Amino acid sequence: NVSPRLRKITTSFIQHLHDFARENEITVDEWMAGLELMNEAGRMSNDRRNEGQLLCDIFGLESLVDEITYKLASDAKDEPTATAILGPFWRKDAPMKKMGDTIVSGIESTDRTWMHGIVTDFTTGKPVEGAVLDVWHTAPNGLYEQQDPNQPDMNLRGRFTTGKDGKYNFYCLRPVPYPIPFDGPAGRVIQALGRHPYRPAHIHFILTAPGYKPIVTQIFDRNSKYIDDDAVFAVKDSLIVDFKPYQADPKADFELPYDFRMATF
Ligand code: DHB
Ligand code: FE
Repeated sequence: NVSPRLRKITTSFIQHLHDFARENEITVDEWMAGLELMNEAGRMSNDRRNEGQLLCDIFGLESLVDEITYKLASDAKDEPTATAILGPFWRKDAPMKKMGDTIVSGIESTDRTWMHGIVTDFTTGKPVEGAVLDVWHTAPNGLYEQQDPNQPDMNLRGRFTTGKDGKYNFYCLRPVPYPIPFDGPAGRVIQALGRHPYRPAHIHFILTAPGYKPIVTQIFDRNSKYIDDDAVFAVKDSLIVDFKPYQADPKADFELPYDFRMATF
């Protein structure tokens, strides 16, 4: 009892594969090299390194399916917050935090950031209560916590739940541009194409709330290198933000206001 949808896309996938092989006159050696690349990515993939997803991402595939899936989330201001790819570094069960907490542990920095805003219903403009913001970003050395034995477990990750007013606020860092891991198959492909492995500085979010469509997204630092040339093609205009120098709080060097708009199912 295969679903008609699964049968349709599997058939189409095979047709495209055959067309690709015919068009390019793929030889046995070339096919074997591709096979080895996939197998190597598979062997490397584990809790800490998601090489299969990385390969899809440098091909622009995750970004494309994000666009297809969420085509209703446009870049317009009166629409729900635009989506962006999940990427390979999300971890489930990030620590639950209280508003005003920090997600930074054991890092001295002059890029301490106070991020705050409100989660609203995009049609009514009313605050969304019980929205969970799951946030994660890289350390100043460009590594996510699970890539870096020197960071505490779950560093630079946290989940925050909004109250009646829909507001949120927490401390994080202003992240830096970051190379996707390029010592494996995805890196070899990126090199073969003559491309660089960098992503502009970004912070990841997953927003969930009872009765609302989840939003997987990222925000990007306007002044970051590679903002116009993301190795995995995820930047959207409405997701570009400004970190503002901030003097009012001895615990922060920058302020980052950002509001999220959610859509009901
Ligand atoms: C990818 C996404 C990220 O957010 C990141 O930091 C590195 C790589 C990716 O899509 O491959
Ligand atoms: Fe990332």
